[in-house]
Amino acid sequence: MLRFSESVSFDARLARFDIAGSKAHLAMLAHVGLISRAERDAIHGGLEDILKEIEAGTFAWRTQLEDVHMNIEQALTARVPAAARLHTARSRNDQVATDMRLWFKHATADLEARVRGAQRALLSLAERDGEVLIPGYTHLQRAQPVVLAHHLFAWMEMLDRDAARLAEVRAQANWCPLGSGAIAGTTLPIDREFTARALGFVDSRGRAQVTQNSMDTVADRDLFIGFAAACATAGVHFSRIAEDLILWSSVEFGFVDLPDAFCTGSSLMPQKKNPDSCELLRGKSARLQGNLHTLLTLAKGLPLTYNRDLQEDKPPVFDSHDQTAICLDVLAGTLAGMTVKRDRCAAAVADPGLLATDLADYLVIRGVPFREAHHAVGAVVKLAERSGVALNALETAAVQQVHPKFGDDWRGVFDLRRAMQLRRGTGMPGPVQVRRQLARWRRVLRAAKA
Ligand code: ARG
Repeated sequence: MLRFSESVSFDARLARFDIAGSKAHLAMLAHVGLISRAERDAIHGGLEDILKEIEAGTFAWRTQLEDVHMNIEQALTARVPAAARLHTARSRNDQVATDMRLWFKHATADLEARVRGAQRALLSLAERDGEVLIPGYTHLQRAQPVVLAHHLFAWMEMLDRDAARLAEVRAQANWCPLGSGAIAGTTLPIDREFTARALGFVDSRGRAQVTQNSMDTVADRDLFIGFAAACATAGVHFSRIAEDLILWSSVEFGFVDLPDAFCTGSSLMPQKKNPDSCELLRGKSARLQGNLHTLLTLAKGLPLTYNRDLQEDKPPVFDSHDQTAICLDVLAGTLAGMTVKRDRCAAAVADPGLLATDLADYLVIRGVPFREAHHAVGAVVKLAERSGVALNALETAAVQQVHPKFGDDWRGVFDLRRAMQLRRGTGMPGPVQVRRQLARWRRVLRAAKA
């Protein structure tokens, strides 16, 4: 049963938050006169000593004491007898809720910084190779040309939403549970706002934020679900970025060369270079989704309020944090080290068929209704296929026979630079917009550093 019920093997990592919570609670107890100043100072000193030992790795964790809370409290009371008063007006239920809210505030900030790291790698790549033209794909069929920066900035947007989701979880975490007790608060005259302020659970104007219902406070696990959902969504993004890179690095596409340090060879086939970092990014995303599912299932149908089932809430969120963190670092490294194979990209984007839509737009400018233009260009594409020539190599007379509105300048459509320049609107891959987006991301990432 000991081995079954212990959580110290995984919640010991909460120690510094647990000790911070105890210090704040302690200060509050002295503030309202439930303990003396001398007792407060003695207990505070004992907590500091224990924290030092934990950080030095010399603290003796004991499985028999179940969890991080009991381990610290028992060690403390053995040294400082007055610590028997520390648990006044507190339960492990509001204690663990507090530890985890502090942890979520830390973990979301940590992941956000790593998201910014991956975004910085994307920005550098866009600055270096952003103007390279590649085909954009729908249905994994070549669709329309885009500059590489535009594709990279699509990934940038995905990662930016991940940062925003993490920030949202952090805002939701910013409410102090202490004082909720086991379920129904306490009869003792505590000051919840004092404790909240001491722990930094305050709004932008420094006002204390305390949770508003003691039962909900000890039963609620929404933050766990929200955090795991933010990580799982980020994982979906990692897997989609990874999949693009896996395709791009194949011989069939050949758009990029991935850095050797993030790839492996085959033990059997000497010519192989496998995109391991990308495949693992894709694989880890399954695990991040699994963690979310574990938490949803864990909380579902539990009667209010605390149930021991909830001890199982920590391994999934710790794992989601750790895996998301390393995914972001590996993604940043893979992006930073890859090279763009410019001639392969140029060859892939050279197919004039990619500009068939632009040719229809050409007719639209000449007054042809789009449906009719689409039909005419379809006929021109078929004609090129039947004649075995590239779309832009057809005779002008043959094209004009399909539709009289094709002028002598119809071939000008196939100039890729012109095609890009015409894409001027917000959100489009034209050079004006790409420059704007470059400036925007430089600004965002500079602000994120500050
Ligand atoms: N280790 C426990 C957990 O993580 C702490 C709360 C224990 N509360 C209780 N009533 N047994 O859930």
